[in-house]
Amino acid sequence: MNTLDDLLAEGVRDRGVLVRVDLNVPLDGDRITDDGRIRAALPTIQALSEAGARVVLTAHLGRPKGGPDPKYSLAPVAARLSELLSAPVRVVQLADGPPQMSPGEVVLVENIRFDPRETSKDEAERGALADELAALVGGRDGGGAFVSDGFGVVHRKQASVYDVAKRLPAYAGGLVLSEVEVLRRLTGSPERPYAVVLGGSKVSDKLAVIDALLPRVDALLVGGGMCFTFLAAQGYGVGKSLLETDQIGTCRTLLESGKIVLPTDVVVADAFAADAATQTVAVDAIPDGWLGLDIGPASVAAFAEVLGRAKTVFWNGPMGVFEMAPFAEGTRGVAQAIIDAPAFSVVGGGDSAAAVRALGLAEDGFSHISTGGGASLEFLEGKDLPGVAILES
Ligand code: 3PG
Ligand code: MG
Repeated sequence: MNTLDDLLAEGVRDRGVLVRVDLNVPLDGDRITDDGRIRAALPTIQALSEAGARVVLTAHLGRPKGGPDPKYSLAPVAARLSELLSAPVRVVQLADGPPQMSPGEVVLVENIRFDPRETSKDEAERGALADELAALVGGRDGGGAFVSDGFGVVHRKQASVYDVAKRLPAYAGGLVLSEVEVLRRLTGSPERPYAVVLGGSKVSDKLAVIDALLPRVDALLVGGGMCFTFLAAQGYGVGKSLLETDQIGTCRTLLESGKIVLPTDVVVADAFAADAATQTVAVDAIPDGWLGLDIGPASVAAFAEVLGRAKTVFWNGPMGVFEMAPFAEGTRGVAQAIIDAPAFSVVGGGDSAAAVRALGLAEDGFSHISTGGGASLEFLEGKDLPGVAILES
């Protein structure tokens, strides 16, 4: 793989460099609630800008339905980026063609998913968009280059991630390189015991990764909404908790591995609301009509015991609805147990990483916090990530 350092060694003064970054941050209106991904993108942007490149950033926000939608404008992201860089960052439109820029300047192309060709399954459509993106930095003949640094999107075969890398000399940015290096430690021969903590709402989303991980891990701790389908597979009533009835059989089979550790108690509520009535009950005593929204303290203690012995830990997905204070303690407790464990620890993903920061936990308590949720899971599943593979070809 050619890397950002190779590009900097070639020299970028007054060259156009297109950089794919993942700036898909959570927003509340136009207020950014977690800027972790923006901060993670800074080193590459700064290095290129300081070296005198004309830096054209391309990124997406959310999943707009194939057309411009002000709700998904990158304007608030450009404003935050500008604060962090202490330099203006203009939002430019793809349709306006190559922007006038001075050396070291940074601009951000408006949400690339406003163009339906970005996510098209048709290679020619994506290719046409990739040509336009390459032209923003002068194309191959005009000295343009592409730096791929949006780790959170490398599992997407999309124009700004994949196709453009065939049209310009392409380099892996520092974030992509470090993420891949860390995840390779997990898929290689991780130090044992190796424990994985999975949460989040749906078992069906995580089946592929559970299948891939079970033969490799020593323990798989399951919390979050998805634990209720496993509890149902063990024969417990789960009240009104999240349940994927069509996955109960699969969960029963997975439980035969003997490696899956489930909660023993849960926090249940009479409604999905921060001010609902709540109680902590054993998993064999979930009252009818109540729904489980967090794992309980006995479960946290049991998970912490396993984590305390682990030498390698990967965590993806919150243990409960941590955005509401009464259901945040499971996630907080498990995160703290990972911080306290003498292990190489990796937090996978957008949501889990945001949870760490929202709960005020020390980010440096983990060995690595990935910026990619889906991307890190697909990496651990052993899938080829198109955005990485194209850099290696
Ligand atoms: C993410 O938030 O997971 C990445 O930015 C990718 O976004 P996507 O899942 O909409 O492709
Ligand atoms: Mg995602």
